[in-house]
Amino acid sequence: MSNDIDARAFRRALGNFATGVTVITAQNSQGQKVGVTVNSFNSVSLDPPLVLWSLAKDSNSFNVFESASHFAINILASDQIELSNHFSRPQEEKFATVSWTAGIGDCLLLPNCAGRFQCESYERIDAGDHWIFLGKVVAFDDLGRAPLCYHQGSYSIVSTHPGMENKGDLIVPLSMPRGRLRENIYFLMLRALNNYQSAYLPKQEALGTSISEARAIFLLSDNPELFADGIPELTNAPQSEVIEILENLRDRGWLAQEGKGYALTEKGQLKAAQLWALADSQASIIFKDLSAEEMGHFKQTLRNVGQHD
Ligand SMILES: Cc1cc2nc3c(=O)[nH]c(=O)nc-3n(C[C@H](O)[C@H](O)[C@H](O)COP(=O)(O)O)c2cc1C
Repeated sequence: MSNDIDARAFRRALGNFATGVTVITAQNSQGQKVGVTVNSFNSVSLDPPLVLWSLAKDSNSFNVFESASHFAINILASDQIELSNHFSRPQEEKFATVSWTAGIGDCLLLPNCAGRFQCESYERIDAGDHWIFLGKVVAFDDLGRAPLCYHQGSYSIVSTHPGMENKGDLIVPLSMPRGRLRENIYFLMLRALNNYQSAYLPKQEALGTSISEARAIFLLSDNPELFADGIPELTNAPQSEVIEILENLRDRGWLAQEGKGYALTEKGQLKAAQLWALADSQASIIFKDLSAEEMGHFKQTLRNVGQHD
């Protein structure tokens, strides 16, 4: 890479920009269909209505996008991680196992998305190792479903900022409301999670680990067998990102290749011990008023959520 910029560090820094996730699709006059998971989508102009996204020049889908008269941008909803993973794996027939309907200019529309834009191909710009595609929006659906988000290599969801109530501070705990919300269990759990995270995550970051790296270290130390034969398919991050996270951990000397698999090094075990200790100490600070027995009940209650619905 030019300018002495380290490619992996650059990608990692770019990952701080939280985005949505889209699947962009097109079909050419020979009926060849393509679909690619893309988070480089953005709005450009209202009049005319223009949007853009970028495609790696080595993408297998380039020829079809280049020749198709139209493309569709399907903004994924929070429960469509599987679709995101599906369209981020290079494979022959991506549409054989996925439901879709044909849109304008034979673009392909996916059901149950958060929003969809059907675009006429407007311009293609040469930009380094990517092509920028500009599209003129000719139709759209605003389905308003909760979006799937992407941040630091992991999928996430939109949650109200805990600081929204007090704009003066960067992050302040959500205050306890009066009235019926005070008794609403869903609200209480969301509030508790927001407040817990805003106290806990800065401490975890202070140990030198991003959220996704800490998650990987927890998993590597608690379920090492998952990584014994290679890199496992995880549900909360695409395979390409898991590879990237593991490479980062390896570069820091926390992880080593062992045969076909991966394992934490001594230094990695130490980092894992620090992370577990932090997790435990945070829990004991926040839940200091609960006895061991009450804490046991509380944990069991949380484990049971989702078992009886
Ligand atoms: C969340 C996410 C966002 C992505 N964003 C882009 C992007 O903006 N541009 C791109 O070219 N590839 C992006 N990719 C990678 C492509 O989805 C992936 O390389 C895909 O296999 C390309 O398909 P193809 O080679 O069949 O064309 C992204 C992958 C993920 C998981």
